[in-house]
Amino acid sequence: MEKTFLMVKPDGVQRGLIGDIVSRFESKGFQLVGAKLMSISEELAEKHYEEHKERPFFSDLVQFITSGPVFAMVWQGEHVIATARQMMGTTNPQEAAPGTIRGDYGLIVGKNIIHGSDSVQSAEREIKLFFQEEELVEYSKLI
Ligand code: CMP
Repeated sequence: MEKTFLMVKPDGVQRGLIGDIVSRFESKGFQLVGAKLMSISEELAEKHYEEHKERPFFSDLVQFITSGPVFAMVWQGEHVIATARQMMGTTNPQEAAPGTIRGDYGLIVGKNIIHGSDSVQSAEREIKLFFQEEELVEYSKLI
């Protein structure tokens, strides 16, 4: 079953959007297999965003993601990686369609509420960065 890493960023946590965001993915039919409210160290932030290391906004990115608690999650389901990205909306919230998370709640690219893995490889890497194997659950096939 495909898995993805999603994270409510400090702006989303502070604005009380965790419940709404979790509810959207549950309603869609995805299963939550791991979740935790946590603070991100500078070291973890730099690893998570290493592909953006050379970008001019890299230090702002690290500063922002370490500025307050985040809600890290692993979700599973058919095509969850691409579908979650659609549900999040485009990176820049000003261009994100209404009905998407960023389209409904965001205004600024640097504070775009949620992160989601963009490929199978990123999902595997990001899940391993944020979660131990034993922190993820398995669902009964009987229900
Ligand atoms: P995310 O999907 O978490 O991954 C990279 C992040 O970089 C992206 O969300 C944005 O929040 C951020 N980002 C992209 N472009 C800019 C920019 N021009 N200025 C600041 N942050 C940016």
